[in-house]
Amino acid sequence: MNVPTIKLYTGAQMPMIGLGTFGSDKYTPTQIADAVRDAASIGYRHFDCAEVYGNEPEIGDALRDIQASGIRREDLWITSKLWNNHHAVADVVPAFEKSLSDLKLDYLDLYLIHWPYPNFHAPKVDVTSRDPHAVPYIHENYMKTWEQLEKLVDKGLVKHIGTSNMTIGKLEKVLRDASIKPSVNEMELHPHFQQPELFEFVRANGMVPIGYSPLGSPSRPERDRTPEDTVDCEDPVVVSIAQAHKTSPAAVAIAWAIQRGQVPIPFSVKRHQYQESLEAACDLRLSDSEMEAMARIDRECRLIKGQVFLWSDAKGWEDLWID
Ligand SMILES: NC(=O)c1ccc[n+]([C@@H]2O[C@H](COP(=O)([O-])OP(=O)(O)OC[C@H]3O[C@@H](n4cnc5c(N)ncnc54)[C@H](OP(=O)(O)O)[C@@H]3O)[C@@H](O)[C@H]2O)c1
Repeated sequence: MNVPTIKLYTGAQMPMIGLGTFGSDKYTPTQIADAVRDAASIGYRHFDCAEVYGNEPEIGDALRDIQASGIRREDLWITSKLWNNHHAVADVVPAFEKSLSDLKLDYLDLYLIHWPYPNFHAPKVDVTSRDPHAVPYIHENYMKTWEQLEKLVDKGLVKHIGTSNMTIGKLEKVLRDASIKPSVNEMELHPHFQQPELFEFVRANGMVPIGYSPLGSPSRPERDRTPEDTVDCEDPVVVSIAQAHKTSPAAVAIAWAIQRGQVPIPFSVKRHQYQESLEAACDLRLSDSEMEAMARIDRECRLIKGQVFLWSDAKGWEDLWID
């Protein structure tokens, strides 16, 4: 299968679909690693990992097997992310080294700061949980963390560095102050949450948008659900485009993402699902009028609100997303 790629400002080509690896508390590390192994055998080359997903050692075993099967390291695109409790200058390199060693690699293609907020909370806590030491975005501190990522690039341990869960105002400051500009911004993007202004800002500033939860995260944990959330794959426009192409709403969401210019990273441990997403990325094309119809169904429905990262006197999760 011919997986489309997108060019980063460095000239590198990133495969335009990646497999997500966050199991939403529903799937075991072994199930996810098996999916990574099998997904590579059918054509996936890009894997979106993170320390906090708790499965990098198992995914590392899968990556070793994938390379033993004859797929070259340089044909893989492996991302990992620095978790919120490792932003302190002294913690960045050890956290990176742990991910690198768990993934059994000697370099990463991309390393992201997962969230712009330093904090600590135990895994799987309820949305009302707060870290008493959590603080709002402090640009000066973020740049100290970023400088450590820049050093990893200088040492050849990481090819690209990037941001995640940012806003335009925060990115403007990072672009102003960084020695090495972010190559990407990973952000929530699906038909009901298109973030048009941030999306255009990211592209206009030479970064590639990576879209997480591209199917509307139907299996997200209960703690990430609110009664106002909408369901992308049940949207009548998505359903009718799927019917017209004799495919599924999920395939339409993937094709829309790629044609729009973002890199979707759908998660699945089920072959029929990740194969369908890959085929949609490679073969399905929406017409101009279908793309226009998709643009009109944005509901500004953020699903991953980030409540647990709030500081003690924050009013609500919206505070995380204002500059
Ligand atoms: N940077 C960040 O802060 C951040 C935040 C969130 C996510 N991410 C990344 O983005 C990835 C994807 O996000 P996500 O898991 O939240 O959402 P998603 O990819 O939109 O949804 C994944 C779920 O959709 C279902 N699915 C997958 N393929 C399907 C298909 N072809 N047809 C029908 N249903 C399908 C599966 O549900 P069932 O398992 O129930 O079948 C799967 O668990 C994560 O794994 C992670 O790598 C990053």
